[in-house]
Amino acid sequence: MNIDQRSFTRFFSVLAFAGLLLVLVGGQAVGEEEYDEDAYGPQAPIVFIAPVKAVVFTHKTHTMDAGMECDSCHDEVFQMESGSTEQNDDFTMQSLYDGKYCGACHDGETAFASNTRCTVCHIGVKGFDRMQGGPKTDAHGGNH
Ligand code: HEC
Ligand code: HEC
Ligand code: HEC
Repeated sequence: MNIDQRSFTRFFSVLAFAGLLLVLVGGQAVGEEEYDEDAYGPQAPIVFIAPVKAVVFTHKTHTMDAGMECDSCHDEVFQMESGSTEQNDDFTMQSLYDGKYCGACHDGETAFASNTRCTVCHIGVKGFDRMQGGPKTDAHGGNH
C-alpha cells in the first residue's frame, strides 16, 4: 500500500516533470519558429513611398516561403539598403514591365505578373497609414 502510494506519487511527479518539459520544449520550438533575420532578411516590411505611396515588399514571403536566396535580388536587382531604389527615376511600372526591379520575377512566369493583382503590391495611402497606426491600435486594445 505504502509502495503503491510512493510509486503513485512518483508517477505523478514524472508526469508533472514531463509536462514541464513539454511546456519548455514546446516554448522553445515556438521560439525556433520565430523569424530568423540572418537567414531570411529583415523582418520589417520594406515600404516604398515613391513615386507612389505605398508599395510593400516582405522578405519572409520571398525567402522563407518562396525559398529564394539573397543573391536572387542582392545586389544586382536591389541594394541591401532600403530607400536606395526609390531614388531611381525609373522605378516605375514601365520598368517592371520591362523586366527590371520587381519585374525581374513578376513577369507572369517566375511570379505573378506586374500588370495584375495591383493591390497585392500596392497597399495605397490607407494601407500605409494603417501600418503606421499599428501601435496606436495595440495601445487601444491593451486598455480592455
Ligand atoms: C526577392 C528580392 C529579395 C530577396 C530574395 C532578398 N531581398 Fe533583401 N531587399 C530587397 C528589397 C527590395 C530591399 C529594399 C531595397 C531598396 O529599398 O532599395 C531589400 C533590402 C534589404 C536590406 C536592407 C534593409 C534596410 O532596412 O535598409 C537587407 C539587410 C536585406 N535586404 C537583406 C537580405 C538578406 C539577408 C536576404 C537573404 C536572406 C535578402 N535580403 C533577400 C529584396 C530582396
Ligand atoms: C527574384 C524574384 C523576385 C523579385 C525580384 C521580386 N519578387 Fe515578389 N515574389 C516572387 C515569388 C517567386 C513570389 C511567390 C510566387 C507568387 O506569388 O507568384 C513573390 C510574391 C510576392 C508577393 C505576394 C506575397 C506577399 O509578399 O504578400 C508580393 C506582394 C510581392 N512578391 C511583391 C514584390 C515586390 C513589391 C517586389 C519588388 C520590390 C518583388 N516582389 C520582387 C519573386 C520575386
Ligand atoms: C509586383 C509588385 C507590383 C504590382 C503587381 C504592381 N505594382 Fe505598381 N509599383 C510597384 C513598385 C515597386 C512601384 C515603384 C515604387 C512606388 O511607387 O512606391 C510601383 C509604382 C507604380 C506607379 C507609379 C509609377 C508609375 O509607373 O507611374 C503606378 C501609377 C502604379 N505602380 C500602378 C500600378 C497598377 C495600376 C498596377 C496593376 C495593374 C500595379 N501598379 C501593379 C509594384 C507593383
